[in-house]
Amino acid sequence: MDIEELDRRKFIKLGSTGAAVLLSWPFLNACEGLSSKKNESSDPNFEPDLDIDLTAKESQVPFFQGSSTNVWMFEAKLNTGDPNAVQHLDGSYLGPILRVQKGQKLRIRFKNQLPEKSIVHWHGMHVPEKYDGHPKDVIENGETYIYEFEIMNRAGTYWFHPHPHGRTGPQVYNGLAGMLIVSDDEEEKLNLPKGKFDIPIVIQDRAFDEDNQLLYLNRGRMDKMMGFLGNQIFINGRPDKTLSLKSGSIYRLRLLNASNSRFYKLGWSDGTPLTVIGIDGSLLEKPRSMPYMMLGVAERVDIWLDLKDKPKGTELTLKSLSFSAGMMSMGMMGQMRSNLPLGSEYDVLTISLDESGNNSFILPEKLIVFNKIDPSEAINAKNPRTFKFFMQRMQWTINGRTWEETEVAGEEIVKLNTTEIWQLVNSGGGMMGNGGMMGGKGMMGNGGMMNGGMMQMPHPIHIHQVQFNILERDTSDMDPEVWNSVREGFIDDGWQDTVLLMPGMKIKIIMRFEDFKGLFLYHCHNLEHEDMGMMRNYKIE
Ligand code: C2O
Ligand code: CU
Ligand code: CU
Repeated sequence: MDIEELDRRKFIKLGSTGAAVLLSWPFLNACEGLSSKKNESSDPNFEPDLDIDLTAKESQVPFFQGSSTNVWMFEAKLNTGDPNAVQHLDGSYLGPILRVQKGQKLRIRFKNQLPEKSIVHWHGMHVPEKYDGHPKDVIENGETYIYEFEIMNRAGTYWFHPHPHGRTGPQVYNGLAGMLIVSDDEEEKLNLPKGKFDIPIVIQDRAFDEDNQLLYLNRGRMDKMMGFLGNQIFINGRPDKTLSLKSGSIYRLRLLNASNSRFYKLGWSDGTPLTVIGIDGSLLEKPRSMPYMMLGVAERVDIWLDLKDKPKGTELTLKSLSFSAGMMSMGMMGQMRSNLPLGSEYDVLTISLDESGNNSFILPEKLIVFNKIDPSEAINAKNPRTFKFFMQRMQWTINGRTWEETEVAGEEIVKLNTTEIWQLVNSGGGMMGNGGMMGGKGMMGNGGMMNGGMMQMPHPIHIHQVQFNILERDTSDMDPEVWNSVREGFIDDGWQDTVLLMPGMKIKIIMRFEDFKGLFLYHCHNLEHEDMGMMRNYKIE
């Protein structure tokens, strides 16, 4: 908060009880005083293509026999704009699917009707600091926060969710999340499946008590350290995991992993390769066939699904295939923590071809022109900024630091209009360093969770404000058993905002800081880790 604002707030407080208000009132517009901090009023000069009320509130959904489940959800109401831009998901706790085009202007009036503070973040979007949903901008129950920004991102699958510090995990878990789909001219020309052939698929895991109520962190400290795992998969905010599609048709499936900490090794049960056309913030240069795809928390992947040769009545199953996560939960602890252990094989989604149909979409050989950033443009090409993600004194840290609301360390300051390479390292840290005597296959068995005497876990690392390119993925310090079980599931192509950093992995990414100065976040998107403080600010100045 700047001095001016501090004074104004003090003044308002004083003013409401003291006599000063009488003297100064004509000179102080009350609305303006409040809105400067909270963005409570809209800008009359901003002409939105879409103006939406987005209310976070308590609700109930009848998922199962017996009691309805208490959830929190985003409810959207379109004030102005194309009605097709807002799609509601029936019988679900999930927020709307918003469809926008690059260049459009969006006004979102976020209304908090939750019994606690919240703020909305637009994951993957390039927006000014005050519209990024920083934890410092939380609003109370009954307050409104107005976002007004232009869509500057490429065509891709983005999403939105709350971002209050310490409460993101429970708020998302209770149901607060939605998808934001961006299209642009370059994508338009490709004539990809549209409308009812462009299907959002939000994957999450949940657990319930006997009364059908959501269970969260019911194993206490261990759930917080490792991340919460549910024991059943929800698709698009519902427990029935069957999607009914038309035979003879072609679909675009947009998968988002909106789980709190679970990640997936997605593959078709019959062994058919996945045809991947897009990732987080862009399409790929060309379609790519993969035996399976690793989908870390918060990551998105676009899949081309060709049902031309599949007769009506066929069922296809998308599974999470077995892998070694390189952590304790794979072994004995996993069995205790969840009956859907991380890394075990289970069904994610069944696609059933109940009706026949046909369409004529053709998979393009080339998708986008991928102008990958040239490493020589980076001002620190010889000496990348390094961020290590590790545990210290039973706390998840980034370079040994944890969350501070507005602080930045010297190594967290970058300059506007520069390009940088960052090296993200999942390391044991501590005195013994990587490959210490407990590294690799340690005494904990399966995957070896101890490295340098520290616990190691996969961390999905996310950077706000930018879309980056992956330059290099160094796996030489990884446990070969872990790496071999996941190695064909990564994409180092296209524009991304989140990467799954497996234990021992080092990834070099390159990005450009453009347009907006300010404080932005980078953090582990395992929401329990994030809430515990595995999140920091970086500053663009
Ligand atoms: Cu998905 Cu900091 O966000
Ligand atoms: Cu984000
Ligand atoms: Cu983490």
